[in-house]
Amino acid sequence: MNIDVRPIVRDEFPTYVRAAARAFGGHALDEDVRRDFRGFVPGRWMGAFQGSELVGGAASMPGNIGVEGGALPVAAVVDVTVQPTHTRRGIMTRMMDHQLRDVYERGEPVAALWASESIIYKRFGYGPGSFHEQWRIPRPFTAFLRPAANPGSVEFVSPDDAAALFPEVFRNAIRGRPAAIERPRTKWEAILADPERRRRGGSAAFHVVYRSGGAAEGYASYRIHESTLRVLEMMSTSGAAHAALWQYLFGVDLMNVIEARNRPADDPLPWMLADPRRLERRPTEALWVRLVDVGRALEGRRYMRPGRLVLEVDDRFCPWNHGRYELEGGPEGARVRRSGAAADLAMPAADLAACYMGTVRPSALAQAGRVQERAPGAAAQADAMFAARLAPWCPYSF
Ligand SMILES: CC(C)(COP(=O)(O)OP(=O)(O)OC[C@H]1O[C@@H](n2cnc3c(N)ncnc32)[C@H](O)[C@@H]1OP(=O)(O)O)[C@@H](O)C(=O)NCCC(=O)NCCS
Repeated sequence: MNIDVRPIVRDEFPTYVRAAARAFGGHALDEDVRRDFRGFVPGRWMGAFQGSELVGGAASMPGNIGVEGGALPVAAVVDVTVQPTHTRRGIMTRMMDHQLRDVYERGEPVAALWASESIIYKRFGYGPGSFHEQWRIPRPFTAFLRPAANPGSVEFVSPDDAAALFPEVFRNAIRGRPAAIERPRTKWEAILADPERRRRGGSAAFHVVYRSGGAAEGYASYRIHESTLRVLEMMSTSGAAHAALWQYLFGVDLMNVIEARNRPADDPLPWMLADPRRLERRPTEALWVRLVDVGRALEGRRYMRPGRLVLEVDDRFCPWNHGRYELEGGPEGARVRRSGAAADLAMPAADLAACYMGTVRPSALAQAGRVQERAPGAAAQADAMFAARLAPWCPYSF
């Protein structure tokens, strides 16, 4: 099978959007094509062609991703698809190779994506870069241990006002959060447009904002599905806003159940409830992360404890990364160089990515047989260095 992987041109974009939707089991409408076209950056959208037929595609959008102590340029990967007529013939593998080389050449040290299945991306060096939780709680069990002191107010806002207010709250709320990526304006518009076909039988979205002293410190968007209130997104920049918004969401009359998606693993809400076991929590890996330039990525974060480690990285998919690195890092920054010294720890690229974000402790991966501890105590030292102050979380799903 002769497959050519190359960037698509503007005229091919409608075909690309329709093909991508079809691979996900849906049909794109003209409005989807028009909306997505606004985010089109020539060169970043690629297609796999058999002759003139588009049989696969993948794209990446430039952004920034939070890492401990800072942020780094990221390629946010979307729309990885192969047409069902052409799967399991290596087309995605070709596209991933093409895309990661492209991202490396663009100087973006990290790539990130939302995986449709957790089996797919490890082979390309992606590891879980964040976890999130789905929540469900029957309303009679939502009492707080201590009623929230609530000096501010919760008010409804229109989608237009939400578009003006929410992005800044979102930006402030994710500051310092590993794995967080800012939502681009076109995506805000798409979400707040809230077309009926995306409501899954629920009401149109309601939007509320929490203000204290005039400034917006938090917001929540939710839908009503009969007697279930589904929180679409809740972001806050203060403890008062967080408590007041949950108190509001739990207090909406005629509801039996409150559900929420994509909550961070370190959300304090479970610790605020009087009867916390009533909150059903389902954690899953969320954003997948790939260190496209291992040296730059390691140098681009801060480390919780000062220390020195020689890391051996097995990265055959991005061979420019393969090898040993001496990392000397601490709370002030890091210095990384290639090394010929004996390795303290050895691991595949995908596992390094997960440790790097702070999603998992290196010693847990050593116990799981995925990371090799070559020097005694190295895994515990890596645990201390690679820890993150906040649980990695990406509230923007793309
Ligand atoms: C996922 C998808 C892109 C894979 O494309 P593909 O061209 O079939 O993938 P490849 O042939 O390059 O597969 C590479 C390897 O991954 C495995 N693989 C790929 N997709 C898999 C899946 N969904 N489940 C299990 N294994 C999978 C293949 O078996 C192959 O393994 P091997 O190297 O051991 O033989 C394609 O099935 C698809 O478009 N699915 C629907 C949309 C989707 O879920 N996209 C991912 C969005 S994040």
